[in-house]
Amino acid sequence: MERSCLAIVLAAGESTRMKSSMSKVLHPVGGRPMIAHVMEALSQADIASAALVLGRDAEAVEKAARRGDMTVSSYLQTERLGTAHAVLAARQAIAEGFDDILVVFGDTPLITADPLKAARKGLAAGNDIVVIGFETQAPFGYGRLVIRDGALVAIREEKDASDEEKNITYCNGGLMAINGRKALSLLEQIGNSNAKGEYYLTDIVEVANAQGGQAIAVAAPEAELMGCNNRAELAIIEAVWQRRRRNEMMLAGVSMIAPETVFLAFDTVIAQDVLIEPNVVFGPGVTIESGAVIHAFSHLEGAVVGREAAVGPYARLRPGANLGAEAKVGNFCEVKKAEIGAGAKVNHLSYIGDAFVGEKTNIGAGTITCNYDGVNKHVTTIGANAFIGSNSALVAPVTVGDGALVASGSVITQDVPADAVAFGRAHQTIKPGRAKLLREKYLAEKAAKKQAGK
Ligand code: UD1
Ligand code: MG
Repeated sequence: MERSCLAIVLAAGESTRMKSSMSKVLHPVGGRPMIAHVMEALSQADIASAALVLGRDAEAVEKAARRGDMTVSSYLQTERLGTAHAVLAARQAIAEGFDDILVVFGDTPLITADPLKAARKGLAAGNDIVVIGFETQAPFGYGRLVIRDGALVAIREEKDASDEEKNITYCNGGLMAINGRKALSLLEQIGNSNAKGEYYLTDIVEVANAQGGQAIAVAAPEAELMGCNNRAELAIIEAVWQRRRRNEMMLAGVSMIAPETVFLAFDTVIAQDVLIEPNVVFGPGVTIESGAVIHAFSHLEGAVVGREAAVGPYARLRPGANLGAEAKVGNFCEVKKAEIGAGAKVNHLSYIGDAFVGEKTNIGAGTITCNYDGVNKHVTTIGANAFIGSNSALVAPVTVGDGALVASGSVITQDVPADAVAFGRAHQTIKPGRAKLLREKYLAEKAAKKQAGK
């Protein structure tokens, strides 16, 4: 039978070292709050119940952590008396009776499902405590795992460790699985007589051992257990996350010429055979369909790029930009909340916002949809196979029909019927010989001035 599991997510920290007006677990990694990454890992590990232990910004943290596939309850830890005290804030949830209790930290966003599953496996094999450890060159500050004959004897915190124990490089990642039937009684036996005067969750190992229980450690990659205490660490975590995500994408068939210059969001979807050139930034909500090319220095957010379409170089797709198959949005163009039909082209220096552009329509260089009157936004609708001449301003609300042609330099304020030509500019006049006359006049004036000066 499947074992039930409650994950307890500790997120009551003050975040002092972040020097921030919000809790650190709300700071984004890959465009979403750190704590949401932790919740995602829990979900990937098939954990259906979570208890959040909250302090600062409780409401916002709860909102960021909530997800549809998990029952999430919240508990406030009003005083910060240590990690064991924090876990006990969720006493009520533990008392509901689960086979497994998994304690995780809200500030370790790089954790994946694998170590969580491994820890639970350790419980299923009959252990009472399974600690997720990691080997590191820099153990300072971490709890050290004291192992004897393969069993975990104790976890010693930095401040309480002997010189000999400080040499241990196998450290506590901070995440542990506890036998759910024994958890409450074990936790309640933890005291606070240590260097920090805190209730250490790590003492649960010695408490369990003293009662003839079994504790072990399972190793996970150091990178997965990286915790975030300040913004310098946040930047390192972001870099690790980006590298991981780019690798996954490349292995799934996405080409990147200079992957280290491409920045992805948590929900970026890129199909096979897409080419991403250097220096491209994906904000949240972007989908790129197969065969598309994103040229260098483009910025995309909330956009869909259709099959075989091309974007950039130097293009900006804002939320609601939706490019059909084989459409093109070229250099120095901005597209916002607009459908660009299949095969349509917006190749140079244009702003297309709140608009529909039909299939195979050509938008000339410098075309602007004037969508805003200072108060409201209005829609520009352009049919299929239309041609908008360069440097036109389309003053919305306005419609240009299928196959219509707008002369370049036009300011279009009235609807243009299908297949019509619209001129919205002054007529050109020619004055023969006038340029020559003017030139001679100017030259004569200049010569006269020079002579007077002497
Ligand atoms: C803890 C572990 C240490 C481990 C390290 C890994 C203990 C006693 N020590 O140390 O062995 O190597 O993590 O990063 O567990 N929290 C609360 N309420 C509290 C105290 C803490 O919610 O009263 C939360 C914090 O917000 C944080 C987590 O628990 O998310 C860990 O607390 P922290 O103070 O960072 O523990 P460390 O000293 O890093
Ligand atoms: Mg810490």
